[in-house]
Amino acid sequence: MRMYDLIVKKREGCKLNEHEINEMINDYVAGKIPDYQMSAMLMAIYFNGMDNDETLYLTMAMANSGDMLDLSKISGIKVDKHSTGGVGDKTSLILAPMVAACGIPVAKMSGRGLGHTGGTIDKLESIPGFSTAISTDDFIHNVNNIHIAISGQTANLAPADKKLYALRDVTATVDQLSLIASSIMSKKLASGADSIVLDVKTGSGAFMKSTEASFALAQEMVAIGNNAKRRTVAIISDMDQPLGKYIGNALEVIEAIETLKGNGPEDLTLLSLTLGANMLVAANMTENVDTGIEILRKTITNGAAIEKLKQLIAAQGGNTTCIDDYSIFPKSKYIEPITADRDGFVSHIQTDEIGYASLILGGGRQTKESTIDLSVGIILEKKCGDNVKCGDTICYIHSNDKEKTVSAKQRIKSAYVINDTPPASRPLIYGGIDENGHRYLK
Ligand code: URA
Repeated sequence: MRMYDLIVKKREGCKLNEHEINEMINDYVAGKIPDYQMSAMLMAIYFNGMDNDETLYLTMAMANSGDMLDLSKISGIKVDKHSTGGVGDKTSLILAPMVAACGIPVAKMSGRGLGHTGGTIDKLESIPGFSTAISTDDFIHNVNNIHIAISGQTANLAPADKKLYALRDVTATVDQLSLIASSIMSKKLASGADSIVLDVKTGSGAFMKSTEASFALAQEMVAIGNNAKRRTVAIISDMDQPLGKYIGNALEVIEAIETLKGNGPEDLTLLSLTLGANMLVAANMTENVDTGIEILRKTITNGAAIEKLKQLIAAQGGNTTCIDDYSIFPKSKYIEPITADRDGFVSHIQTDEIGYASLILGGGRQTKESTIDLSVGIILEKKCGDNVKCGDTICYIHSNDKEKTVSAKQRIKSAYVINDTPPASRPLIYGGIDENGHRYLK
């Protein structure tokens, strides 16, 4: 096989077969295909797409490029949840303890922030002492013992995706349906869950901006999961404004703890309950999502979910004092308000810009090597539809650097649109794809 010929084939809109895709991925991981040729291939895929078969072959080739985690030593149905990435999305920190508190094994391998989107592993590392790099043996032991473990992906989990993702990031080829679907699903398949609940975001803070594109991505990922014999469903949820009010690593953990204590914002609470309830259905605990939501609500009111989070933190070396004393989290030096320039209604928040503002403050990585500042972020006081008066605080910036505060402030100001009339309301959940691949609307 010559990589040159495969590039020509894809450039001309033809289909690559399983053997060609396998060989291409294996040779790329082995360093036999240079980045410039793979970049040309990615761009050809970007413009010409891949059909369902090609996307499945690419997913399997990437999943098989490293370790396939064996979770068979954990009894019960292991259910995982994955989001396609958003701003202020801390649902994993909320639903994982709720679901585990119901006795369902939650063996969760999570990622770090990508671009303008945050990642669960970075957030958890803001808890003093918390280790996200536990061994596979400890991971399995903890799930068997307390029903929950959350760790970072092991170095050799889908290494082909790691290499390809870094290349996509710098060649403007991230937001392509087949490439996103195969990237996410290769990691999910390799991390061993029996069943997968996908949260596919849509809107200005998502990789897929239109609802139609998000449904199509969800459909593709559900097909891949079910083809690989993992029961997979998806929900399409709104990311046209940040989820909840807190953005930034330590800040998001605080908001997740508050939500588990029953004081969370409505959107964050409802989405966490809905995704968690889908996990209960996938684990055969109930047949009905509404019943699942009620079961999970009880874990908040009776304190079982917050207790489970405490157990998770203790089991992974973290300081459990953080549950009641937020002063032990990393704290920024400055807190600066941003105010509204006029009276009106918040009619739009350009959500990826809010994510980039948090990244500029140090909450995300500018390069792969960047270390992140866990204390910084943004607290939103006003969200879409809220009435504001000129001079009202719309949000607070938490920062450690005056210059970065100025650039973040500019981005946030231009991200907020204030108009005379309130915007049409958007649903929190648009619908989903069931395990048979059928689309439903909410
Ligand atoms: N998350 C991933 O892991 N991969 C993508 O391509 C996009 C979001």
